[in-house]
Amino acid sequence: MAKPSKQTASPSKDINACLARWTGLVNDALDRYLPQPNCAPAALHRAMRYSLFAGGKRLRPALCLAAAEACGGQIENAIPLACAVECVHTYSLIHDDLPAMDNDDFRRGRPTCHKVFGEAVAILAGDALLTQAFEIVALAKAQPRYSHGDMVLELARAAGSRELVGGQVADLQAEGRKISTAELKRIHQRKTAALIRCSLRLGGMSVNCSPAALDALTEFGTNVGLAFQVIDDILDVTQSSQQLGKTAGKDQAAEKATYPAIVGLEKSRQIAARLTNRAFESLRPLGSRADLLRALGELMLRRDR
Ligand code: IPE
Ligand code: IPE
Ligand code: MG
Ligand code: MG
Ligand code: MG
Repeated sequence: MAKPSKQTASPSKDINACLARWTGLVNDALDRYLPQPNCAPAALHRAMRYSLFAGGKRLRPALCLAAAEACGGQIENAIPLACAVECVHTYSLIHDDLPAMDNDDFRRGRPTCHKVFGEAVAILAGDALLTQAFEIVALAKAQPRYSHGDMVLELARAAGSRELVGGQVADLQAEGRKISTAELKRIHQRKTAALIRCSLRLGGMSVNCSPAALDALTEFGTNVGLAFQVIDDILDVTQSSQQLGKTAGKDQAAEKATYPAIVGLEKSRQIAARLTNRAFESLRPLGSRADLLRALGELMLRRDR
């Protein structure tokens, strides 16, 4: 994988240990927020938990917590928002895997939600996770600069028809078509980068960050978010299904518009590295407090699953 050429990350702490600790905190909080599996309707609550606790990488929650830390705040403030973005993300995966969308049988190392619970319950589990996210935002602590309304607006816009959902529509409409890299970037911006940027912004907002810090997080989030989807497209070509925990090689089979399909693997790697470098540049105003964000950006570029 190509190295970011300019400013490389200098993680002061062990990012993997940190990620494991944060994943534990977020999972405990999610377990408290979600209805118990035996709560009626049990099939629905079991399906929600099945997908949510299947072992995702929890990168969006980690970005949210690291953003709070980079702004000089306590990660405790960001935990509810980290949980909310993970609920939106997991819902988007359940729906992304449906037969009417990417038609995938395997996710997070296990059969997809609709394979186990049926399509109707999987659709509804996605709906319920999306709604759950907004319930959790309402339970977060408002800040002097950022009201509950600001936080709800932030998540609603990122998840809505102009961003994530709109990007998913554009992704499906691009199947089998030749599109330009500019069009593809616009799809990635909406379907993937919007929620990643939102995770960072909500982390900053949860600790009452300054407008300048929010701008830095926004710029960082856009660029690591774009790089993230380029890498996802590369891994679909280069990794095994077992390694990914989802079926590899699906993009080519579905004639998806991807960077590897349009510009090839090597150029795609360069694009991801360039986006990551750009992301690091925007963290300069935050100084060494943003080291964990840098380490996460590096990890997102170099990941193998
Ligand atoms: C997969 O996201 C979907 C994309 C936006 C590319 P992740 O790779 O973060 O999936 P999990 O959460 O680890 O399962
Ligand atoms: C998914 O992109 C983006 C969202 C779920 C919003 P992909 O369709 O490439 O994700 P995977 O490869 O199935 O995880
Ligand atoms: Mg998809
Ligand atoms: Mg998919
Ligand atoms: Mg993919």
